[in-house]
Amino acid sequence: MPANTIEINRQMDKFAGHHSVWVFGYGSLIYKADFPYLQRRPANIAGWSRRFWQGSHDHRGTPAAPGRVVTIIPDPNAVCHGMAYLITPAVFEHLDYREKNGYLRVAVNMAFDDLAAETAEGVVYVAREDNEAFLGEASEEEIARHIARSAGPSGPNSDYLTHLAIALRELGKHDDHVFAIEQYLLELIASGK
Ligand code: SIN
Repeated sequence: MPANTIEINRQMDKFAGHHSVWVFGYGSLIYKADFPYLQRRPANIAGWSRRFWQGSHDHRGTPAAPGRVVTIIPDPNAVCHGMAYLITPAVFEHLDYREKNGYLRVAVNMAFDDLAAETAEGVVYVAREDNEAFLGEASEEEIARHIARSAGPSGPNSDYLTHLAIALRELGKHDDHVFAIEQYLLELIASGK
């Protein structure tokens, strides 16, 4: 898969003709909504785990020194919590550009946290392991070290982690992986390393 996914995502026509589409965000899309939306609701997707396994060449790192950002990995017993946005299809132009570094639009069923019985089919941006920027698994301590030393055009990689952890707490959702990495990062900062 090419490093830039804009063209592939443009061809995703599953929701062609729809006046509005739900998009599920699980990373920066939870805390940074820099696009217009019709509704915003806490939601979750079953069968996926959030992991800091994707490299970032364009936001929290550079091609020479990628940062680490989240993707979601298929995980039958897991539920990934995040934020759903109802958008008009025109907004995909902005989202495809923002998520161009390896993320593909994938159709997904989401359940809304405010009305558990209510679900919707929509889109989630997934960085699969076959994309060029994928970094893969590492220990949470090593991921924290990587994040501590990385920065890119959107700012320090540590801000991405911190904003995500704060946003998850505000949603009242615990994420072992994110919070463990945050704890290691705090220890690194406290130790001055
Ligand atoms: C998302 O937030 O849903 C995708 C990953 C990111 O942009 O951080």
